[in-house]
Amino acid sequence: MPAFYDDDEFARLQAAGRDHLWLHFSRHSVYEQGEMPVIVKGEGAYLYDAKGKRYLDGLGGLFVNQLGHGRTDIAEAAAKQAAQLAFMPLWSYAHPMAMELAERVAGYAPGDLNRVFFTSGGGEAVESAWKLAKNYFKLTGKPTKHKVISRTIAYHGTPQGALSITGIPTMKQAFEPLVPSTFRVPNTNFYRAPERFQTGAAGDLEAFGRWAADEIAVAIENEGPDTVAAVFLEPVQNSGGCFPPPPGYFQRVREICDEYDVLLVSDEVICAFGRLGYWFGAERYGYQPDIITCAKGITSGYSPLGAMIASDRLMAPFLEGHTSFLHGYTFGGHPVSCAVAMANLDAFENEKVLEHVRDNEGAFRATLEQLNDLPIVGDVRGDGYFYGIELVKDKATKETFDDDESERLLRGFLSKALYDAGLYCRADDRGDPVIQLSPPLICDQSHFDEIEQILRVVLDKAATLL
Ligand SMILES: Cc1ncc(COP(=O)(O)O)c(C=O)c1O
Repeated sequence: MPAFYDDDEFARLQAAGRDHLWLHFSRHSVYEQGEMPVIVKGEGAYLYDAKGKRYLDGLGGLFVNQLGHGRTDIAEAAAKQAAQLAFMPLWSYAHPMAMELAERVAGYAPGDLNRVFFTSGGGEAVESAWKLAKNYFKLTGKPTKHKVISRTIAYHGTPQGALSITGIPTMKQAFEPLVPSTFRVPNTNFYRAPERFQTGAAGDLEAFGRWAADEIAVAIENEGPDTVAAVFLEPVQNSGGCFPPPPGYFQRVREICDEYDVLLVSDEVICAFGRLGYWFGAERYGYQPDIITCAKGITSGYSPLGAMIASDRLMAPFLEGHTSFLHGYTFGGHPVSCAVAMANLDAFENEKVLEHVRDNEGAFRATLEQLNDLPIVGDVRGDGYFYGIELVKDKATKETFDDDESERLLRGFLSKALYDAGLYCRADDRGDPVIQLSPPLICDQSHFDEIEQILRVVLDKAATLL
């Protein structure tokens, strides 16, 4: 496998991809004529394509790569583990790396969360959490509690349970009917909050958060508290373009969950492991979940892994007699992935990665906010190293694009133009059109400037095409 490809080798590779590879979430008609973008190498915060062209990895792969690319210490940890014990499932047997990693993750997790169930990725962690919630209530005398509440436009994964919890109708329609019993409440997009919360009065944001949280209580009442098992929320909702929680939001949600005996699941598949400058988003925003789901950054993407983290309380019924949680995945807690996670977390500690994010997040925000002078930029929002930039047709009225315009702007122009200009990131229209940014956590001011400069040129051009 060459590091970079000459024209003949590249043509052969393209034919192999076009004729045999089925990409995820992709319009393949595009590749019948055009080329698939091919990334062959990564180094630090940069990716290299098959011809050797360099791109800033503005998305951390897919909200995954925290430590940057090309780390030989992590690669060596993987090789060492593969040589010693390549595979052993966690089905009634254990291996040392899973045991050590479970103890370590439990040590980072907030409050009483100390029981770690490994999966191969985020969607499986979400599935596991819903199944645990149902099973727990069946074993503790509340067998009718099974429903889930989640937020509009939120993404929670593609398995049919996780997809049912997902709040993006266009992503679900092709697969209906999905698992029944999931219900949506408003998300915390303050930019698009109902007008009564946009008077400019101090306290509008808190009032909006209070209202959004109270809508969860309304949904529980509407469905019947005896039927609702869990609420799934991300600390910062990704889909729709980074909605941080208003102050007090999660504290009110916690009260509601306690009142109705509903489990609060913090879906931290993106937000955990430094993305927000803390091990977990719940820690940053000061709330105590009953379950955390995580994946992605736990290995910085050097190998796949996910986890559901619960408490002694939720595990207690499964410690009795013949009872077991009849659930698992062949590759959940794979030894190589666990070894990689340990090496990744070693580096987090040794290199003070969380501190680096906390020290630099203000500079990242300030640099991105410079883009507010562009007429097409409606809102810059996020926390940590996790931002969404919402694009609008009219800044004064916040008017958004219609479907045709969105198609022309995002798919027809922006995604490719940003990539051609050397920035790998995502232009997304699962809610209103946004640019999503989630760079490796090692990035500093020079990278922020590079992101800002590329976005400025490309967004300026985009505005002239409308
Ligand atoms: C919040 C959230 N939950 C779940 C998932 C699904 O994770 P995976 O793609 O690893 O199955 C994602 C993926 O991006 C996510 O962002």
